[in-house]
Amino acid sequence: MNLFESRTENELTDAQERPVAFDQLGGWRKTADCSSLRARNVGLEAVLMGWVQRRRDHGGLIFVDLRDREGITQVVFDPQISQEAHERAGGLRSEYVIAVAGKTRFRPEGMVNPKLPTGEIEVAVTELRILNSSKTPPFQVEDDVEASENIRLKYRYLDLRRPKLFHNLLLRHKVAQLTRDCFNGLGFIEVETPVLTRSTPEGARDYLVPSRVNPGKFFALPQSPQLFKQILMIAGFERYYQIVKCFRDEDLRADRQPEFTQLDLEMSFIREEDIFDLIEGWIDRIFRELKGVSLSFPFPRMTYSEAMDRYGTDRPDTRFGLPLTEVTDIVAESDLRVFRQAVERGGIVKALRVSGGKDLSRKELDDLIDFVKIFGAQGMAWIKIQPEGWQSPIAKFLQQGVQQALEQRLGIETGDVIFFVADQRKVVNDSLGNLRVRLGQQLGLIDPDEFNFVWITDFPLVEWDHEEKRYTSVHHPFTSPVESDMALIETEPEKVKSRAYDLVLNGIEIGGGSIRIHQPEVQRRVFDALGISAEEAQEKFGFLLEALQFGAPPHGGVAFGLDRLVMLMCGAGSIRDVIAFPKTQKATCLMTSAPSEADVNQLLELCLKVESYSRK
Ligand code: AMO
Repeated sequence: MNLFESRTENELTDAQERPVAFDQLGGWRKTADCSSLRARNVGLEAVLMGWVQRRRDHGGLIFVDLRDREGITQVVFDPQISQEAHERAGGLRSEYVIAVAGKTRFRPEGMVNPKLPTGEIEVAVTELRILNSSKTPPFQVEDDVEASENIRLKYRYLDLRRPKLFHNLLLRHKVAQLTRDCFNGLGFIEVETPVLTRSTPEGARDYLVPSRVNPGKFFALPQSPQLFKQILMIAGFERYYQIVKCFRDEDLRADRQPEFTQLDLEMSFIREEDIFDLIEGWIDRIFRELKGVSLSFPFPRMTYSEAMDRYGTDRPDTRFGLPLTEVTDIVAESDLRVFRQAVERGGIVKALRVSGGKDLSRKELDDLIDFVKIFGAQGMAWIKIQPEGWQSPIAKFLQQGVQQALEQRLGIETGDVIFFVADQRKVVNDSLGNLRVRLGQQLGLIDPDEFNFVWITDFPLVEWDHEEKRYTSVHHPFTSPVESDMALIETEPEKVKSRAYDLVLNGIEIGGGSIRIHQPEVQRRVFDALGISAEEAQEKFGFLLEALQFGAPPHGGVAFGLDRLVMLMCGAGSIRDVIAFPKTQKATCLMTSAPSEADVNQLLELCLKVESYSRK
């Protein structure tokens, strides 16, 4: 992008005659940005403004790399051209803000910098104005910065001067623009929903805001606009969308922030296919127009149970193979106690075959065993398939018949390593699923330029929560069950499938949604299955239950994590790199020192008293 791209070549030439427009900044006006001048502009007089990236003194000449948000231009101070500018340039330091007027000229032979778009030219300065000085920055403002993330977050304004972060945020802006353009064109209308509201159950803790005028009462910040968008459908809006902030107090990770942005949408009179088509059309435009990437459509679909079986997770990274294979039936017959016991206790055994993995050293194998322990596995068995036979501490417990059956099921070849975990299904899936991703990275099986999307469908409606000892929603309580499974909802709720879907990109869940319940009676039965009593349902969601009785149309929708999508498009490692002012892992802002203690008068006004409670 060029700030001046709307100007014609003539206007630039005009600036040559009149480089200084006397209306601001002591009469000067920026006539070009720091990435716009090229060889074809040689001879052009220009006024540039920006920050001193670097100053170098060379044989009487002073060179400054001048940076603005668009790029860098070398400006040169030559005492033969201006003694005064040269003298003042001697005092320039990193991050000083300056304005220079000068003439564009070719760099001397041998001084061309092919890495810079402006690398063929330089601006020979006739006049320098120092607009502001700067303290020595705590780190050099450049992309390969060597500073801890905490320092960068504290001085976020300096961090944001780095071209990489600026371009990430520029892409984010373009994604938001194009998204609006896309949905506006399809008859969606953007409606703002409240930020001060009631709890919206998306599985995280709420951020609460005390109400001064209603002492002892609290608003919750929305975890998503879920209930409002459903109510907009009941209100007859038919197509709603919003680019909206959501708030969730949950454990943070590289792809989670306490406040994040969703593209949220909802439609009436639709089925799953309509959502899939709509979203694929939107993603097609974003990737084609903003990344020049043509994806193939339709995106593949995978059922939840296939994803769990083959990848151990409902967000599989499908850029590489290494599928998990269940071998419970085979090894239940083996002489290995850990396998047999796990099976007797209702657990399972899965294997992961790594082609050519025999080169993994003993130390590497031990590291991988430690790694799966993070996910609850007690241990992990391995076998190296050597030309002379199976090499493994467990090989002698696997009788020939077992070995043959494994060979067949796993397609074992010489040179492979096979890993086994035996435990409860969840532990096996978590540990081998994560091991698979780690090995994919470690063995270089992942093409970082690939974008692999997959829709995950046929989720179960509920799952058993061992801590709370009740069923909880896999998606949220407003997701419609599959009609033909409804008969099981009272007796075997875990067998009921839902009409939910997620979109996964390269192993990260970027979006999720569902067809909703639009009949009050079905909603009541689902609440029942979730152990939500009629009173509790009335207290928490009475307004929705009532609204459902006034002609709710069949409807459904989806929400995308805009931060995650942009992170993946930028190739960034964390959503913090695509959010202007993110929070740390501990949900704090190092720049503003939020959250902070409240003033005692504020607390009094809110009828709040701060005490440390101990949990019962
Ligand atoms: P869900 O909870 O799946 O669905 O959220 C939708 C998408 O939001 C993103 N996301 C997050 N991004 C960053 N930080 C977080 N803490 C975070 N939590 C979620 C993910 C996720 O896929 N109301 C439903 C949608 C619907 O049913 O229409 C909802 O919010 O990319």
